[in-house]
Amino acid sequence: MTSTKTIKRNFSEEDFESALVKAVGNRKNFAIISHPDAGKTTLTEKLLLYGGAIQQAGAVKARGEQRKVTSDWMDLEKQRGISITSTVLQFDYSDNKINLLDTPGHQDFSEDTYRTLAAADNAVMLEDAAKGLEPQTRKLFEVCRMRNIPIFTFINKMDRPGQEPLRLLDEIESELNLATWAVNWPIGSGELFRGVIDRSSKEVILFTRGERGKQSEECHLSLNDPELKSLVESELLDQALEELDLLEMAGSVMDLSKIQAGELTPVFFGSAMTNFGVRPFLDTFLKMAQGPSARPSSNGPVSPTRSEFSGFVFKLQANMDPKHRDRIAFLRVCSGRFEKDMTVQHARTGKAIKLSRPQKLFGQDREVVDDAYPGDIIGLNNPGMFAIGDTLYQGSKVEYEGIPCFSPEIFSWLRNPNPSAFKNFRKGVNQLREEGAVQILYDVDESKRDPILAAVGQLQLEVVQHRLENEYGVATRLESMGYQVARWVDGGWNALDDIGRIFNCKVVKDAWARPVLLFKNQWNLNQLLEEHPDLELRSVAPVVSGVEPISL
Ligand code: G4P
Repeated sequence: MTSTKTIKRNFSEEDFESALVKAVGNRKNFAIISHPDAGKTTLTEKLLLYGGAIQQAGAVKARGEQRKVTSDWMDLEKQRGISITSTVLQFDYSDNKINLLDTPGHQDFSEDTYRTLAAADNAVMLEDAAKGLEPQTRKLFEVCRMRNIPIFTFINKMDRPGQEPLRLLDEIESELNLATWAVNWPIGSGELFRGVIDRSSKEVILFTRGERGKQSEECHLSLNDPELKSLVESELLDQALEELDLLEMAGSVMDLSKIQAGELTPVFFGSAMTNFGVRPFLDTFLKMAQGPSARPSSNGPVSPTRSEFSGFVFKLQANMDPKHRDRIAFLRVCSGRFEKDMTVQHARTGKAIKLSRPQKLFGQDREVVDDAYPGDIIGLNNPGMFAIGDTLYQGSKVEYEGIPCFSPEIFSWLRNPNPSAFKNFRKGVNQLREEGAVQILYDVDESKRDPILAAVGQLQLEVVQHRLENEYGVATRLESMGYQVARWVDGGWNALDDIGRIFNCKVVKDAWARPVLLFKNQWNLNQLLEEHPDLELRSVAPVVSGVEPISL
């Protein structure tokens, strides 16, 4: 057992324990879930500004712009001007180390976002006050719900005309079945937005329409301050107070245990662009958010303060730098202390691996990292040995629950018109599947050897084709299958045998040889369920561990 010795180098036993407890205590990580355009880039930028991670507003965008111009990484990103991959941003704020797990901007890549959410301890649900809940946010919310992580809601763009605040809360409660607790309450909206009332301090934080993008000074006044009357129209203040009374009487009560169980969402009203309400949001978030907590594994929950290192891979990214043809595995540290050059066990294969040159990623920038603690994300060079969901550990064996495959909505045959390129075609398809760039399904008829690409968005398929051509030198053809809905069958092939022939449905198998039913539409699926009410179908594939997937 080299583990404990290696981990504790530079530390006495006691110092190590206390350094670990301290590091776990001051770490918080979160991902932002939102629909495109709700203001995620803007909010991220403002949060980083408070953490001193970037010097000027606009830097996140500027970084993006710069990348589009100068980097040759992922041509398609450049051509389309979209952000496809997720990155990680770490910053310090009032003695806390905060990891923001950034997610792709384009909704066709929500699978990547789903996986990133598997590594997040908290989620920030960002809504546009005028639009309320939007489709992408709803989908991502479902993933958070599966893991019961705390969700903090930031209702953005209050400086613009929006929906009634009570209606926005009601929408979250009724449609997501998630109780809400407003941390602050808006006074007016749009042109008449005057600020918010902080519910616990009973102070008014006044909104000043500063210069765009500039950090506005926060002015706090007590609700009893006589000056308030000259600054806020009495009818706007009265209406806000009436609504607050209503919330006090009929709304949920603040309950930290419910927040941390993902049953109650604290709601903040603000405006990221004008930097209004962002700092109070960050302060409250840090008080209420869940720190790195025990994670389920094959041996029961593993505490982050377990002295031996463990973590899991939640995302793979190839060719971030095509000059080096590199592949990066993103690992979330779950317990103990990660140290550069440490030797760990790879749970799936049982091999020992030395982790040299681990990297900390900040957007597209990378630096070599010497150590990392639970809640942190590191990038590992991955010459093909890691797959999504893999556990790495030191000491006694742990294996974390894998990451489920989410329901694809687009299905295409992937044809290789050039048989002499089959070797590369196979290599590319297998590697892209391993990386999770796309799900691969297979026809049950073994004579039909072409794989089926199953994706959440069309662009995901285009990226696969593009990468097959650029990275593996094979030009492929996509042939749409016209199906839109996929379901996994509880009880597997036996359950299917029991019900006999199914109409209006194609049965295929996934990479673990499990049956997957494809339907042209929801109606066909409902019809099957009506005819066979005992059939249990799932939209998310159960996790498989300990079995190697089928390769092409
Ligand atoms: P996203 O990453 O979620 O896609 O959204 P992003 O931050 O890019 O914001 C989308 C648009 O909404 C941007 O405007 C941004 O300036 C604007 N926005 C964000 N927060 C607020 C807010 O609090 N109030 C108002 N009024 N607007 C906000 P754009 O015109 O698309 O881009 P830009 O020219 O402003 O950069």
